[in-house]
Amino acid sequence: MPVVHATEEAIAKAAQALARGETVAFPTETVYGLGANACDAHAVAKVFAAKARPRFNPLIVHVPDLTAAETYAEFDATACKLAEAFWPGPLSLVLPKRPDSGIADLVTAGLDTIALRAPNHPVAQALLAEAKLPIAAPSANRSGRISPTMASHVKAELDDIPAMILDGGPCPLGIESTVVGVTGDAPVLLRLGAVPREAIEAVLGQALPLANEDAAIASPGQLERHYAPNTPLRLGATDVHAGEALLAFGPNAPQGAVASINLSASGDLEEAAASLFASLRQLDDTGAKAIAVMPIPTNGLGEAINDRLRRAAKAR
Ligand code: TXA
Ligand code: MG
Repeated sequence: MPVVHATEEAIAKAAQALARGETVAFPTETVYGLGANACDAHAVAKVFAAKARPRFNPLIVHVPDLTAAETYAEFDATACKLAEAFWPGPLSLVLPKRPDSGIADLVTAGLDTIALRAPNHPVAQALLAEAKLPIAAPSANRSGRISPTMASHVKAELDDIPAMILDGGPCPLGIESTVVGVTGDAPVLLRLGAVPREAIEAVLGQALPLANEDAAIASPGQLERHYAPNTPLRLGATDVHAGEALLAFGPNAPQGAVASINLSASGDLEEAAASLFASLRQLDDTGAKAIAVMPIPTNGLGEAINDRLRRAAKAR
């Protein structure tokens, strides 16, 4: 199926495709997702196959709001507080799964927890309203690759696999949701993402430690090499070597790169996050020997940006 503009009619067709057990790619405020009916194991299996995703890596289930989410998971006071503060929005909560949730086991990789998120994007919300189904949706890229922030990226990654690719323009935030585990003990940060850690800590009134990557279930999405272009990255670059492309940040970009993109000439981290993945894709296609990446501050969204760059830079 070609990429289709996300009109009301196209969204209605996409909802029908989901109900029939097909997969549909759709925009969220973070990145594009590859969605399937979370209650239909066959449909969810198609998502794993399309991405070549390891089956031990569970998916996030998208719901319209907190009321819908409570059908699938147990919300304690902390979980409610976070959902009320950040939903709809780019926060995923990992919570104890209700035994009667009806969600396919494949979605949660057999865990007794489930990741839930209410996206804040008009197309995602319209699709959820029309389909009246919980939608399991990982980022719409091949496993280990850069998440798509435009419909054309989904087409490049998955081609004709989804029954439809709904085009809702570029994703406004450009980096995946922050994943927080609230499963009884103190909340833990399972994946850095579009909600800065500080913002969550302010709501919680306590520190939010990053889960140990070696920990048992260790948010499988924390897989070391991830979000990766084919071209090697050189991080913390303040100059450009011969044959390198440059991913710049701030006003003092060095000259001499074979190709150059500035994530934000004014040093704005939100602007940088929004164009990070598209810029990596673009520089990856230049045939440069390597991509030199300038240092990016680690405050606010910078923490998640640096996390993605560090993973993208891991040697194969
Ligand atoms: O912004 C986003 O979150 C996007 C859009 C489409 O919503 N989705 C996304 O999904 O990034 P995905 O599959 O690429 O990443 C889901 C992350 C993974 O790190 C996965 O391991 C973690 O959530 N996760 C899901 N269920 C979990 C669970 N029960 N326990 C621990 N981690 C879980
Ligand atoms: Mg992903």
